[in-house]
Amino acid sequence: MQTHEICRRFLAYFEQRGHTPVPGASLVMDDPNLLFINAGMVQFVPYFLGQRTPPYSRATSIQKCVRTGDIENVGITTRHNTFFQMAGNFSFGDYFKREAIDFAWHLLTGSVDDGGFGFDPERIWVTVYLDDDEAIGYWKEVAGLPDERIQRRDMEDNYWSMGIPGPCGPSSEIYFDRGPEYGREGGPIADEDRYIEIWNLVFMQNERGEGTGKADFPIIGPLPHKNIDTGLGVERVAFLLQGVDNVYETDLVRPVIETAEQLTGRRYGVNHEDDVRFRVIADHARTAVMLIADGVTPGNDGRGYVLRRLLRRIVRSARLLGAQQPTMGALVETVIGTMAPSYPELETDRARIIDVAVAEETAFSVTLASGSKLFESAAADVLAAGKKTLGGDRAFELHDTYGFPIDLTLEMADEAGLTVDEAGFRTLMAEQRARAKADAQARKHAHTDLSAYKEMVDEHPTLFTGFEELETEATVLAVLSNGVRVPVANAGDAVEVILDRSPLYAESGGQVADIGTITASGTSVTVSDVQKIAKVLWVHRGTVDSGTLAEGDTVLVRVDPQWRNGAEQGHSGTHLVHAALRQILGPGAVQAGSLNRPGYLRFDFSYHGPLSDSQKTDIEAVTNEAMVADFPVNTFETDLDSAKAMGAMALFGENYGDRVRVVEIGGPFSMELCGGTHVGHSSQVGPVTLLGESSVASGVRRVEAYVGLDSYKHLAKERALLAGLASSLKVPTDQVPGRVEQLVERLKVAERALEESRARAALESAGTLVTGAREVGPISVVAQEVPGVAAGDLRTLALDVRTRLGSRPAVVALFGNADGKAPFVVAVNDGGRDAGVQAGALVKEVAPVVGGRGGGKPDLAQGAGSDPSGIAAAIDAVIDAVGRVGVPG
Ligand code: ALA
Repeated sequence: MQTHEICRRFLAYFEQRGHTPVPGASLVMDDPNLLFINAGMVQFVPYFLGQRTPPYSRATSIQKCVRTGDIENVGITTRHNTFFQMAGNFSFGDYFKREAIDFAWHLLTGSVDDGGFGFDPERIWVTVYLDDDEAIGYWKEVAGLPDERIQRRDMEDNYWSMGIPGPCGPSSEIYFDRGPEYGREGGPIADEDRYIEIWNLVFMQNERGEGTGKADFPIIGPLPHKNIDTGLGVERVAFLLQGVDNVYETDLVRPVIETAEQLTGRRYGVNHEDDVRFRVIADHARTAVMLIADGVTPGNDGRGYVLRRLLRRIVRSARLLGAQQPTMGALVETVIGTMAPSYPELETDRARIIDVAVAEETAFSVTLASGSKLFESAAADVLAAGKKTLGGDRAFELHDTYGFPIDLTLEMADEAGLTVDEAGFRTLMAEQRARAKADAQARKHAHTDLSAYKEMVDEHPTLFTGFEELETEATVLAVLSNGVRVPVANAGDAVEVILDRSPLYAESGGQVADIGTITASGTSVTVSDVQKIAKVLWVHRGTVDSGTLAEGDTVLVRVDPQWRNGAEQGHSGTHLVHAALRQILGPGAVQAGSLNRPGYLRFDFSYHGPLSDSQKTDIEAVTNEAMVADFPVNTFETDLDSAKAMGAMALFGENYGDRVRVVEIGGPFSMELCGGTHVGHSSQVGPVTLLGESSVASGVRRVEAYVGLDSYKHLAKERALLAGLASSLKVPTDQVPGRVEQLVERLKVAERALEESRARAALESAGTLVTGAREVGPISVVAQEVPGVAAGDLRTLALDVRTRLGSRPAVVALFGNADGKAPFVVAVNDGGRDAGVQAGALVKEVAPVVGGRGGGKPDLAQGAGSDPSGIAAAIDAVIDAVGRVGVPG
C-alpha cells in the first residue's frame, strides 16, 4: 500500500467516525521552546490545556514531524527517520480509552477491502503504563488480546509528553511482530527491531512542569478534561505493508536512494557502510526539503543549525560515496517529486528550496576544501613531530570552524595513518554543549510564566480597537506585578495591565508595539510595551507614574500618535520595498522576516546572492515611485483561499486562521496578508532610503532603510558631508568625485616612486651588508634586517650578497620588515652547503621565531612571518644554527 494511500485511508476512517480533518501545521511554530513540531498534537496544545475552546470535539490530521534526537541512528536501525508523518486522531474531552483502543484496533486489523490496513491480529502486541489495568481490560475485551501479548512498561516508555511543560499522560503502544528472523522472542520489551512500534495512544490527562528526560519532571495536576492524542507512524506502516526491510526503502524514500546511486555511481545493497550513507542522504534530504519549505534557512544556531547540519551530512555522505560533483540539486528535485502530491507548496516553491539547499552545499564545499587544508597541515605537523595522534583541539577546531563532523575527521586521519584524540575532542564538545545549555536555560527562564494569564485568554480576549481609533475607554481586568496578580498597584510600580479593549498595537508581524498611556482621574500609567499572549490577550507593560490602578477601574487608553505614525510609515514602507524587490528580483525574493519601527525598516528575504548596485538603485527607485504615486492603502477581510487566489503574499511558517486580513497598496502593486496598521496613502510613508544590503544566513539577504523624516535627515547629513568635502578640496560639489580620483591617482604614482627609490637604496646596500659579514667557524654569515624591502627584492638582494661573498663558504639570511610582516630569504653557496648548511632546513628552523613558516631548496629558501618583533631573535637563531653545523669534527 502506497504511503499517500495510507494517509488517505487514515483520514477517511476517522472522518467516518465523527472526526474533523484538520490540516497539519507548519513544522515551525512560534513557540521558542519547541525547535520543530514533533507530534500531531502540538497544534492542539491550547485545547488540551483548556486555554481555548476547540471548535470540534474530535479531530484527525496527518502531521509532518521532525525529530533529530536520534540522528546518529539514522540509516543504522530499520526505523529512525528525522522527518516522518504522524497520523493521529484526537478527542478533546469527548471519548477516552475504550474508544481510542477500539478505533485503532479495527483500523489496523480491518481488511484492506473494507478500508483497513489488514494487519494480522495474531502478530499485534501492545504495551501499557505500569498500573493501567483499565487499558489492559479494554485490550482484552475489544481486541481479544491474550495476557502474554500485553506488556507493562514504566514512565520512560509508556508516559508521553512533548519533552517540555504541557499536556501529558500514560500511553499504550501498539507493535507489530516481524517474525523470528528479525530478532528475539519476548515482545517489545525484548527487541524493538523485531517488534516495530506503529501506533501510540496517549491518554492525555495531566499537565507537567519543567524537567529533563522522559521521566524526570513534576506532574502539576490534572487537565480540565480527559483527552485522547494518538500518533501512527506513517513511514513505519508503509514499510511493513510494502514488504520492504526498513523505512528507507518505502515508495517515497527509495527514489532518493536511487538518485544518489546515479550521482555517486555506487549501488545500494552491496555493503553495509555504503547503505548507511545512502539512507542518511535519503532521510536528511527529505527533512531538509520540508524544513526549507517551512521557511527555515541554514544558520549557526537553533533551527538553522539543525538544517545546516543535515545538509552538511548529505554533502559529506555523498562525498564518501565517491561523488565528485555537486549532488544537492538532483536530490532535492527527487524529494520534491515524491512529496509534492501531499505537499503542493513544494512544487510552487521549488526554485527557492533548491536555491537554499544548493547554496549551502556550495558554501560547505568551500569550507570542506579549506578545512581539508587545515587537516593536512595539522597532520603534517603531527607526523613531523614523530607522533601518531591528532590533538582533540585540532579536531574540535575542524568541527567548530569548518563544520567537519568528527567522523569525517576520523576517516581522514585514518587515511593519513593517524589516530585522533577523541576523548579530548569530546571534552571540548561537552564544554561547548554545557555553555549552549546554560544559554538556553537562561533564555527559557526569561519567559514569562503564562499560567497567570491562562483563564483570561479564553474568557476575555482583548478587543483591539486601534484600527479605527487611537483612544479608547476600557475596563481594567487584571493588574500584575512581578508576574503575580495584585488587587491594586501604586505609583512607582512596574505593572502588566490586562484590559477588555485597547487601541494599542501589540508587537507582531514585524511591527513594534505602540507606546501610550492609561489614565483615570489622578492616575497615570506609561505603557512602554504591549505583547500578545496566545494571540488574543494584550498585556500592557509599563509603570504607574501617579495614583493607583485597580481591577475594575474604568480608564482611558491612548496611543502616542507620533510613535504610531512612525511605525505605520515603517510598516507600509516595508510593503513597498517588498513589492519593489519582487518586481526587480522576481518572485523568488520571498519574505523571511521584517522589523518596522518609527523611521526605520528591515526586511529579510530569500535570494541566492548579493544584490548588484544597479539592482539596489532600481529597488529604491521603484519604492519611491510607488510612494510618490500616492496609492490608497486598502484593507479588507476574506478567507485564506480567496486571498491566496488573489495573489496575496503570505509569510512562511505562519499559521493563519480561516479569516485573514489583506493589505493592498496600489491594487496589484502590493497585496499581503497582514495584521498590522498602515498609513492611509503611500505618499505618507515619505522618502525611503536604502542603507545597505547584507547576508543574514546562507540564501537569506537583508535590506535596511530609513523612512519618513529620518530618511530626509539621513540625506541631509550626507549632503552636509559632501559640502564639507567640496570645501576642503576647493571644488564645487559636482567635481568632488573627479578631484578625489585625481588625488588617488597622484598618490599611487608618488607611492610607486617612493617604493622604487627605497628598493634601489636597499639593493645598493649589498656592499654594506657584505662588510657586515661575520665569520662563524669557517663560514661567512650575513644575517641582517633590511626594513622596507619587499619579498621579491629581498631575494634579489640576498643573491647579490651571496655572489659578492665569492667562493668562501657563505650563508646569507635577510629579513624584511614592512606592514607588520616579516618576509625572509636564506641563500647558501656551494661552500656553505659543503660545510653542512641547508637553506631549506634553516628556514624551517627560524620561521617559527618570527611566527611564520617557509621552505625551499638547499641553496635558496624563503618564508614569511607575522611577527617582526622576533627578527632579532631569528638572526641569533641563524648564527646559532650555522655555528652548530660549522664546527668541524
Ligand atoms: N503524541 C504522541 C506521540 O508523539 C501520540 O507519540
